[in-house]
Amino acid sequence: MTTDRLMVLDLLVSVLAAAAWVGAGAAAAARRPRTAAALMAGALVASPARAGSVLALAGAGWWFVQEKVTIALPLLLTASVVAAVTAGPRLLAASRAASEAGRDAARSPAVVIPLLGAGYAAAAGPVQTFLLGYPAEPGSALILLAVVAGAVLLTWRAMTPRVPLLRTATASTVVAALAGGALTFLPATTAEAATPVVATAGAVAPATAEGGHDMPGHDMSTQASAPVRPVTDLRGPSAPAPGGTVRRFTLTARTATVTLSSGRKVAAWTFDGQVPGPPITAEQGDLVEVRLRNADITEGVTLHWHGYDVPSGEDGVPGLTQEAVPPGGEFVYRFVAAQTGTYWYHTHEVSDIGVRMGLYGMLVVTPRGSATTGVDLTLPVHTFAGTTVVGDHDQPVLQEVAPGTPVRLRLVDTDNTPHRFTLAGTVYRLVAVDGTDLSGPGPLSRAGLRLPAGGRYDLAFTMPSGPVVLRVDDRTEAVRLTTAANGPGNDDVTDAAAAAGWPELDLTRYGTPASTPYTSRSRFDRRFTLVLDRGLALGDGLPIYAHTINGRAYPHVPTQVVAEGDLVRLTVVNRGRDTHPWHLHGHRVLVLARDGRAPTGSPLWLDTFDVRPGEVWEVAFRAANPGLWMNHCHNLSHADLGMMLHLAYEGVTTPFHGGHGG
Ligand code: C2O
Ligand code: CU
Repeated sequence: MTTDRLMVLDLLVSVLAAAAWVGAGAAAAARRPRTAAALMAGALVASPARAGSVLALAGAGWWFVQEKVTIALPLLLTASVVAAVTAGPRLLAASRAASEAGRDAARSPAVVIPLLGAGYAAAAGPVQTFLLGYPAEPGSALILLAVVAGAVLLTWRAMTPRVPLLRTATASTVVAALAGGALTFLPATTAEAATPVVATAGAVAPATAEGGHDMPGHDMSTQASAPVRPVTDLRGPSAPAPGGTVRRFTLTARTATVTLSSGRKVAAWTFDGQVPGPPITAEQGDLVEVRLRNADITEGVTLHWHGYDVPSGEDGVPGLTQEAVPPGGEFVYRFVAAQTGTYWYHTHEVSDIGVRMGLYGMLVVTPRGSATTGVDLTLPVHTFAGTTVVGDHDQPVLQEVAPGTPVRLRLVDTDNTPHRFTLAGTVYRLVAVDGTDLSGPGPLSRAGLRLPAGGRYDLAFTMPSGPVVLRVDDRTEAVRLTTAANGPGNDDVTDAAAAAGWPELDLTRYGTPASTPYTSRSRFDRRFTLVLDRGLALGDGLPIYAHTINGRAYPHVPTQVVAEGDLVRLTVVNRGRDTHPWHLHGHRVLVLARDGRAPTGSPLWLDTFDVRPGEVWEVAFRAANPGLWMNHCHNLSHADLGMMLHLAYEGVTTPFHGGHGG
């Protein structure tokens, strides 16, 4: 069973156990000893069964069960034993008696309170998982115990108004709850001082305990020797690489009404009045210079080069690498186009809204001197005002292509959620992912390609004699390429329903292995683990129901600190019910393993990888691009609800104090 299924199963068992205990208590209170006994029998099956489901889940990793093993399960089992021992015999006697006296005996406090108490204890498990999440700490444990105790006391009180000990018990419950609250939220606020904005040498704690250990050579003395540089000094050069030219662009951010291909008009935030913004293209080695102006985006705007490893000062993160450009302001970005491939740019200020509203465009870099032969289409897919658009098309992109022409389709997902693509009518290859060419990509047909939010796939094929159709999410026809002869094409082209059933390509088994500069057996200088979940956490000032990283929400997630040259291993665990497209700025990461299995196909160098519910990804990167970087979920509304942190190189500082990261 997959980890995801096990999580669901465990949830089911825990809810069943809670329902059975509460049901037994309620039935007893209603003077129905037989029903109560039957429900209690059910509860006595479900409660130990929960131990089994937790144990099975533990096989996927401690992260998935930590709060269950340390708190929920002991609480459930203890309460079950107490209920069985105290209420059990009485209830059995009452149900055998089958008389009025038996019925009355069933509703005695000695029966009802332990049964309901076990119910509260059982319910505490799922409540803890959903509200408090990972990791369970003494504070959250105290709150939980206090809530369960409080519920028991209230029940007790309701059943027997005059119990002398009740006051003391209530008072201690309230104290426990308060102490728990303090323990939970105070560390988050005090961690503030150690968090993001200024990552001076040695001032910031690594994100996880393991990051701080076994790092010979990274003690305070070496940290102190890291040169102190403001991020604003880490800028691009002013000249291209030898043989390159300077490519100048000006992008003006402004609100505008955009006309889609169908004639439909949409209110948008745009670069130069269009969505997507003007494409930025260059040849490898060129110097790209982009002057960003803001006409009237009151929230402010920046340009972030998604997946492009620019110098940190050019990365466009407001409050970290620059201030957001206000209306009337401007900022000039410069970087050498060192990497070839398909990338995109987008605003990083209030990016959840900004990108959704249209502040994005394409960045494509081709190898120097590569003559453009054939058809090369860049196809950003975006959900715009409720419809799926490809570029500015809300109807299929139609193009006539001569048979035999080489075709390249560059798919880009600019949304918050993944899209599924199918290509019908031709055999093709997935030649590049996130801008990096794959090794030995084999021929594909009848495959579903799942593209993570923020990610890119390049597809290549030779135009056949019949039509070729690209579909998005098995409904929208995105592109239709036809030939003059207008051959009928094969069934795949016409049968959209069949395409919906094509199996999803597993990227970790596609292509052929090739050597990589490091592997999972390399010696890593730093290791960080990010456990993604939902839970109550302190956000920017107030507790929110956040998308959390190790139980914290931005800006309270400790910064990951690395030294230039470090080999860094990053483990990303998804304990929640949402998919998290993980995105580190400024570095491509090499996939070491997903759920413990190393890729068997091409090496995968990604800048955005989808961590689905229950998945564990191990990735690695060389810290070779000094600066201050965002590390976040590219479902930008998750990022907005806390799922972001900083990766900082020792010695790099920032003069900006916005700290919101966009
Ligand atoms: Cu494409 Cu920080 O984002
Ligand atoms: Cu997410």
